[in-house]
Amino acid sequence: MRMRIVSDTSYAPDANFAAGANGKQELFDAAAADFEGFWADQARERITWAKPFSQTLDWSNAPFAKWFADGQLNVAYNCVDRHVEAGNGDRVAIHFEGDQGDTRTITYADLQKEVSKTANALSELGIGKGDRVAIYMPMIPETVFTMLACARLGAPHSVVFGGFSADALHTRIVDADATVVVTTDGQWRRGKPAPLKAAVDESLTRGEHPVKHVLVVKRTDSEVRWNDDIDKWWHDVVDRQSDQHTPEPVDAEHPLFILYTSGTTGKPKGILHTSGGYLTQAAYTNSIVHDVHPESDVYWCTADVGWVTGHSYIVYGPLANGATQVLYEGTPDTPHQGRWWEIVQKYGVTILYTAPTAIRTFMKWGAEIPAKYDLSSIRVLGSVGEPINPEAWRWYRKNIGGDKAPIVDTWWQTETGAIMISPLPGLTTLEPGSAQRPIPGISAEILDDEGNPLTEPEQVGYLVLTKPWPSMLRTIWGDDQRYQDTYWSRFGPKYYFAGDGAKYDADGNIWLLGRVDDVMNVSGHRLSTAEIESALVSHESVAEAAVVGASDETTGQAVCAFVILREGFADNGDDTVQELRNHVAKEIGPIAKPRQIMVVPELPKTRSGKIMRRLLKDVAENREVGDVTTLADSTVMNLIQAGLKKD
Ligand code: WT7
Repeated sequence: MRMRIVSDTSYAPDANFAAGANGKQELFDAAAADFEGFWADQARERITWAKPFSQTLDWSNAPFAKWFADGQLNVAYNCVDRHVEAGNGDRVAIHFEGDQGDTRTITYADLQKEVSKTANALSELGIGKGDRVAIYMPMIPETVFTMLACARLGAPHSVVFGGFSADALHTRIVDADATVVVTTDGQWRRGKPAPLKAAVDESLTRGEHPVKHVLVVKRTDSEVRWNDDIDKWWHDVVDRQSDQHTPEPVDAEHPLFILYTSGTTGKPKGILHTSGGYLTQAAYTNSIVHDVHPESDVYWCTADVGWVTGHSYIVYGPLANGATQVLYEGTPDTPHQGRWWEIVQKYGVTILYTAPTAIRTFMKWGAEIPAKYDLSSIRVLGSVGEPINPEAWRWYRKNIGGDKAPIVDTWWQTETGAIMISPLPGLTTLEPGSAQRPIPGISAEILDDEGNPLTEPEQVGYLVLTKPWPSMLRTIWGDDQRYQDTYWSRFGPKYYFAGDGAKYDADGNIWLLGRVDDVMNVSGHRLSTAEIESALVSHESVAEAAVVGASDETTGQAVCAFVILREGFADNGDDTVQELRNHVAKEIGPIAKPRQIMVVPELPKTRSGKIMRRLLKDVAENREVGDVTTLADSTVMNLIQAGLKKD
């Protein structure tokens, strides 16, 4: 866990802002008075139900929750059609800004047509209710169309981040049993085309697979390999479809999507989210936390749709609310380091939701870059993915938020589906560095090792959630047991174990202190130490590997690996390191590439054979090595350090 400094300056809400804010004290009061009634109200107010529900929460089979179970809805209808029916068809849903400077304006009426065509195309490819579709695409409108088309058909999607490798894609396709993959020929990266379909082709050579069709959007006009049996161009199949399609209502608990995330073991977990509860909380939080006012705001969430933030806060939350948003395909520094601020100025972005790692990168580039642009439209700033250090928080407020925009530091997870702990802009007195309080309807506690609630300030413990919530994961796809073991057993079946360390400050604010398990957080992305270790040992030269997350100024944590080479493989310095880094990129994806790989003669182990990562972390962070008395061989650390100094 990282130490953080409690700040001495907090920021009281602005009265003008408060007057128009969606987040009100009454919400806290209502949720405290009647928890289920509160969520039922949210679900009725924010969602259009094809069949109203009568039961709010069924927790009788805990930890398997059912929310609004006898209700029916269609998620895509809620995100698209109903806005058109309400007379808002001309409102812009998406301002698309391409990597190449190409743009596209998509109104809600356009979105309805595009999603309908895509749904018709997918059903022509045999996709119906309950069938899984894998989506491996860059940040382009077709990705949003495809996700919504799946929702329209009741076909759960599994979006796989475009930075994942062919191997990772293969595992995910097989685990979800996806019969259709939607992809693009290539993706633009820093002004250059990079292949994407090639990874799909490769993934299908990795072994048995259920894929019948690969639907390919032409994005970069790159050369692709073509297999007539399964490959289909988007423009051949989607363009000729009717733009009319009737959305089919599904049960509230019908699966909406699977999204894989890293856990403590090597095998990624397919987090399952369902329809009614997920959409309710995504829409609710986007309204009260981001303070979206659909008729006037221009909202921009910079996440990739391959992560849960993109699911909840690009696709489902904002579109359910009928918001206008920016969708940006490119990177922050292409073609120049002011690109984001140029986009804010161009579209008059009012709400910006991004990650601390991006903010720290902009800090490094210098405040003079955003200062060249008119950012006066911005009225709310958000942060997500990891703790934001108070220094970055203040820089963000001053240089991006005009010294006045409230910042919402939002804590949540792939598993929680939507924001759980966050200040409410206009209501909360902001404390830089802290995510502060559970939002109305959510209950959290901090427990010590034995499961006793901690109430005193500065006592460090484990964050738990004490009540079910509508957008909670329902299970791990195909593995109910792992679901129970991972989340509902550490402190017994009444507490959801989040895997994060936390403490209160003297004002009762919650401070998140990082993961307590073997999960790293690199640039707000979750990576498992076990997964990278198993990628390393799959290389012929590696006998053993241990991976730790070491703190990094920009990315929060960085992957540091220690490897022991097999007999007969020489340590060729940089060449060995480079080869192993590339091997990890190939096995998992470039995001998992270790920043540092150290070849060592031994690894520190306890008498029971468990690797003591704590000691390796000391080495990776250039600290004096801590207590070594529980090591089976206490001289190992001397060997490791002597070996490293020699280099
Ligand atoms: C983990 C979840 C939630 C979408 C992005 C990441 C860390 C997330 C915060 C925050 C401190 C945070 C936690 C959490 N985290 N937001 N505001 N302050 N830590 O989703 O990949 O499922 O990762 O990210 O450690 O457990 P994810």
